[in-house]
Amino acid sequence: MVIMCSVCAGFLMLTSCEKEGEGENETKISYNRDSESHNEGQNCMSCHRQGGEGEGWFNVAGTIYTAAGNSTLPNGVVELYTGPGGTGTLAYKIEVDAKGNFYTTEDIHFGNGLYPVAVGSQSRKYMSDPVTSGQCNSCHGESTDKIWSN
Ligand code: HEC
Ligand code: HEC
Repeated sequence: MVIMCSVCAGFLMLTSCEKEGEGENETKISYNRDSESHNEGQNCMSCHRQGGEGEGWFNVAGTIYTAAGNSTLPNGVVELYTGPGGTGTLAYKIEVDAKGNFYTTEDIHFGNGLYPVAVGSQSRKYMSDPVTSGQCNSCHGESTDKIWSN
């Protein structure tokens, strides 16, 4: 896909390789204070996946809120540990952007499951069960509370 597109870009400057309404995969990783994301609270991967319309196919993404739940919590961090309660090793760390969103297209090896931690400037919130899916907002804000920290 990537190779095809660079070939097209090289030889057929005017031809678009992208299908209508289909986003490309490109490296996209959230970082503190950045604000190019959107759609807070929605399941990002309903669009940011192969064949979806979003730019970049995310492997982990979601949104962190404040304790009150009515606004997002900007510029924190999401960590994924191999053990519960911040034990084991820190496998991945994703900075949360200025809108409270976090996302990454990097390969995530969930193995038997990783334990998420939502880190704010004042507290760390631990998910007690491990996850094998990075679609955090598919549960949070749907079948369970929003992710929150402070
Ligand atoms: C309804 C579909 C949809 C959902 C849900 C969605 N996105 Fe997007 N996203 C898009 C589309 C389409 C684009 C490209 C056009 C644009 O920038 O609006 C995009 C662009 C982006 C970009 C900017 C990429 C660039 O190159 O500028 C970021 C970052 C992003 N989305 C993050 C997220 C995050 C984080 C979530 C979940 C909280 C999310 N998106 C949910 C469709 C979606
Ligand atoms: C399959 C559904 C599901 C997915 C996917 C999921 N969670 Fe959770 N999460 C839960 C449930 C249910 C709880 C409450 C029980 C628990 O802590 O295990 C929870 C609890 C949490 C908590 C602790 C909340 C508190 O009140 O202290 C945090 C933080 C959290 N999740 C973050 C995440 C992050 C980050 C992701 C994505 C990497 C994620 N979760 C993916 C279902 C999910």
